Amino acid sequence: MLKKLIVTALFSPLVFHGVQAQNQPKTEMDMKVEELLSKMTLEEKIGQLNQYTARWEMTGPAPTGSSEQELLEEIKSGQVGSMLNVTGAEATLKAQKLAVENTRLGIPLIFGYDVIHGYKTIFPIPLATASSWDPSAAELSAHIAAVEAAASGLHWTFAPMVDISRDARWGRVMEGAGEDPYLGAKMAAAQVRGFQGDDLSADNTIAACAKHFAAYGFAEAGRDYNTVEISEYTLQNMVLPPFKAAVEAGVATLMNSFNVIGGLPSTANPHLLRDILKGEWDFDGFVVSDWNSIGEIKNHGVAPDLKEAARLAIIAGSDMDMEGYSYVPFLKELVDEGLVDEALIDDAARRVLRIKFELGLFDDPYKYSKLDEQGLVLNEEHLQAAREVARKSIVLLKNENNLLPLKKEGQKIAVIGDLADDKDSPIGSWRAQAIAGSAVSLLEGIENAVADQNAVAFERGPVYVSNEPEFTKHLQINHTDPTGIDQAVELAQKMDVVVLALGENCFQSGEGRSQTDIGLKGYQQQLLEAVYEVNKNVVVVLMNGRPLVIDWMAEKVPAIVEAWHLGSEAGNAIADVLFGDYNPAGKLTVSFPRSVGQCPIYYNHFSTARADDTGTVFWSHYTDESNDPLFPFGYGLSYTTFEYSNLKLSASEISADQTLKVRVEVKNTGTVDGEEVVQLYVHDLYGSIARPVKELKGFEKIFLKAGESKTVEFELTADDLAFFGADRSWKAEPGDFNLWVGTNSQMGLKGAFKLK
Ligand code: GLC
Repeated sequence: MLKKLIVTALFSPLVFHGVQAQNQPKTEMDMKVEELLSKMTLEEKIGQLNQYTARWEMTGPAPTGSSEQELLEEIKSGQVGSMLNVTGAEATLKAQKLAVENTRLGIPLIFGYDVIHGYKTIFPIPLATASSWDPSAAELSAHIAAVEAAASGLHWTFAPMVDISRDARWGRVMEGAGEDPYLGAKMAAAQVRGFQGDDLSADNTIAACAKHFAAYGFAEAGRDYNTVEISEYTLQNMVLPPFKAAVEAGVATLMNSFNVIGGLPSTANPHLLRDILKGEWDFDGFVVSDWNSIGEIKNHGVAPDLKEAARLAIIAGSDMDMEGYSYVPFLKELVDEGLVDEALIDDAARRVLRIKFELGLFDDPYKYSKLDEQGLVLNEEHLQAAREVARKSIVLLKNENNLLPLKKEGQKIAVIGDLADDKDSPIGSWRAQAIAGSAVSLLEGIENAVADQNAVAFERGPVYVSNEPEFTKHLQINHTDPTGIDQAVELAQKMDVVVLALGENCFQSGEGRSQTDIGLKGYQQQLLEAVYEVNKNVVVVLMNGRPLVIDWMAEKVPAIVEAWHLGSEAGNAIADVLFGDYNPAGKLTVSFPRSVGQCPIYYNHFSTARADDTGTVFWSHYTDESNDPLFPFGYGLSYTTFEYSNLKLSASEISADQTLKVRVEVKNTGTVDGEEVVQLYVHDLYGSIARPVKELKGFEKIFLKAGESKTVEFELTADDLAFFGADRSWKAEPGDFNLWVGTNSQMGLKGAFKLK
């Protein structure tokens, strides 16, 4: 009796958020969903909420459940609604036939896969593309990924990953857009548009999945899967905006996160899933758990067994169980025992079926499995697009004495470093169906660019990572054999300039790759110092998936190019920048720390009550390091220079229904054409809760010919200044604001205004 009461108490309007509202059929498709739902048994509805991985590609711990043969039988008996890690026309066709031709109602499967930054044509990792500050580049990357994935039988990608992250120790920082919710929201919406287009039933679009809901990127100490302790204010103001932008862009699904927030697993968090997502945001898609995150409710110690974990998850609003073996075994029992209302199962199944209808799978369940790789995959057009996005993603961190751009002739160039000849690392982590070793290496890119290849010579230096299988490769960094430094030094002595590739192997970042040391690993620092000792004309090309501690390099080396892991066309894109065929315009979307001890470090921090150096020890600082990052959010140089002037505000104060216009003049004061990302930041001086010292509220990427000037205008309204405050509502609060317009988060022309 007590349990029934507890369950009844749970079914308050609060928990039912997002259930009643969606019951009213709105469209013809909704009517079809209702008609199908009405024919389904409870077991068949539960089957739609079950997702298994193919046994041949693992993206999580080995499945504890069915064998492959058992899995195939379960598909035929209608116990499986979705598969992940099934790719290619043949495999998807085989699995789809099992479901459509054997189950009672012939409901098709939906095939999901991690198409994060390309399917076979690989684009820059998302952290790199975000550095372009060009949402159209993110949209193009996602669109081409969708074309190739759909041509290979896939319906759904587990992307975009929109987790805000402030801690470079966390390996998955490579997968998101960095530390800022405003930029993250723009990139999230752009990727949803790219993947989904405006018609999910088209054969070149796929359903997207905003993940990981929520706050996965705030794992304590940057350790993957670790506890998250954040306030509702940080959740609302920093974590949720990219998810909300994805929902407003029409994202079909969300994936919840492994972590607890304040002790409650996100997979079993009705406040996140019902109050906010399905209630306030009126989300009508479905939520898939992350890999066994339902089963892991038990590991968190919030359920004694899988049955209770299943009950908590379905009530909280997790619709589909990925590899958790929790819903199929226990949901019917829970309904029969009156512990779960069948209406919740109906709501979850309705959401899944609606996406399958929108994908056109009921019209032709095999439609996506026909076009496999008919010239739609890894073609020249896609590679050119990958090169274009890659060039835009490169950030010029330093360029003293105009060492860059290099000359295509008349300059002897030493290319040094294991990563320079690495055709695999540029593909990055989360590489879908990329062909291993298929990227254009930095060395190849340079050789392609110069007039005479004899002007280029290569020395590997010490091997960086030995060739091991993917899942252990990041552990095989060479710390024992410095062979190669002497040869590299000997070459450097003879050449005019050295291009030195340093950074990370592709599997040093990504899921499960947190690191306590984010400096140059192996013999890289020794190689750098030895080469620099004999030739000061060093251009370091960083190839990495996270901010690195590069303080020595930043002080000594005249030129540093942040090239991330740029995908299939990496070497060509980097060469385009090195030789000036493309003037770099990228800007960091993550702060680079001076020391790992500063992590987490981010620009949009609170002031604290002791921000100023008082000449005593009694202020917020380190005794052994600066508070400032090595390179701040929004930072990036160009081969030209830009001057900001004439900042003008249309008013000194606005009321809640007025718009403030902010104008600034930007001039290209250099000798080459270039692009600049003009950034607008505000500081709300006082609020009902502490407010960040700066918040990005606008940016515009402009092109200026040498000597050209343009006026850039931003508009600010009360909506732009709204935040989740002490009264737990979203609104702007009257008061004084400062604003800056400039080239990064630390520099800019300052203005002030009042919101009445
Ligand atoms: C992984 C990741 C998630 C991915 C899923 C399926 O554990 O956390 O981002 O989409 O499993 O591969």
